[in-house]
Amino acid sequence: MASDPQHSTTPELTIVVPTYNERDNVRPLVDLLEKALEGHRWEVVFVDDDSPDGTAREVRAVAREKPNVRVIHRIGRRGLAGACIEGILSSVAPIVAVMDGDLQHDETILAQMLEMMQADPDLDLVIASRNVEGGSSGNGLSAVRKWGSDTATAIARRLLRITASDPMSGFFMVRRNSFNSVVLGLQQQGFKILADMLSASRGGWKMAEVPYVFRERQHGESKMDSAVALEFLSLLLVRMTGGMVSIRFILFMIVGLSGLVVHLTTLRLVMLAFPVSFAVAQTVAVVVAMTSNFILNNVLTYKDRTLRGRDFLRGLLSFYGVCSVGAVANVGVATAVYAVLPFWALAGFAGAFVGALWNFVASALVTWKS
Ligand code: GDD
Ligand code: MN
Repeated sequence: MASDPQHSTTPELTIVVPTYNERDNVRPLVDLLEKALEGHRWEVVFVDDDSPDGTAREVRAVAREKPNVRVIHRIGRRGLAGACIEGILSSVAPIVAVMDGDLQHDETILAQMLEMMQADPDLDLVIASRNVEGGSSGNGLSAVRKWGSDTATAIARRLLRITASDPMSGFFMVRRNSFNSVVLGLQQQGFKILADMLSASRGGWKMAEVPYVFRERQHGESKMDSAVALEFLSLLLVRMTGGMVSIRFILFMIVGLSGLVVHLTTLRLVMLAFPVSFAVAQTVAVVVAMTSNFILNNVLTYKDRTLRGRDFLRGLLSFYGVCSVGAVANVGVATAVYAVLPFWALAGFAGAFVGALWNFVASALVTWKS
């Protein structure tokens, strides 16, 4: 392969580094990679979601000095898994690694991982693991995060039948061909691309694990938050339905359920506090629940394209419109079902489900149109 002069610059390995506000980590990371991968032909691709701190500009500055540094600068998009997928797809190397851009992942094991992949062509994946002999979360995670990570690992291993010791790792190396065979089934939204990949490969991959110690973050801060945890729960459901629904759909339904709680709480409070008729109280509750659903979907379900300022108001109004039509569909379907099968719960559920489905599809097209 490498003897063909036309291709002698083709990298053996592409390292994909998703970044969001990691400007001060870019140069140190490239320096460390140069040391760790001496003697190998490699490149690094930073996939940056237009970080406000100017990470992409910094990568371009480094790339002007070093031809094996590239950047994919994404505008108006957010998401760790999607960034990794895009970076991997941009590579022509036979082997691709994914690692964080904040120096928490130990780059010194990359050469060993690469050599393992090159020595065994059947090996699809090498995971850098915190949970095998010699590896650990070190000081990289707080006690709460450590607990969360362990719990998520236990759940994923059970529900998704994953055997790897650290499916939550954001640090791994995958053969490009193997990745191609699962990429169509992967979720763009979410944080845990490795767990998704392992589940999509249905246990058919040959994998190996290399221990590493998760380092403490020096610059910048973690983007892991409660939204990420909810995304992970949604990922589990996506996988358990065999990938029939998307993370976005599940988040939308979770928000819808929260809207029911908001609705009933508001209804009760208004009736207690004001001398108004039931119809008025119910109307207030509907508007409050729709507003709360809009706000939650805007920051959670659509956190990759959150509407702000004027767009927020326009979105809110369009969401009211969408949900009003959904309510009409809801009542129509429920009434029709009830006429045939007079079980109130069944008819009520059917109506609510169709209404929610309409709201999901229509708001995706109208309110949060990409
Ligand atoms: N492009 C892009 N878009 N990059 C992102 C985004 C995003 O929306 N969110 C986070 N990143 C980048 C960060 O800049 C960092 O380089 C990397 O993804 C990991 O994000 P952190 O916020 O540092 O995550 P963490 O340290 O809490 O957790 C990481 O390490 C764990 C251990 O391997 C993640 O990789 C976890 O998935 C992993 O379990
Ligand atoms: Mn980190």
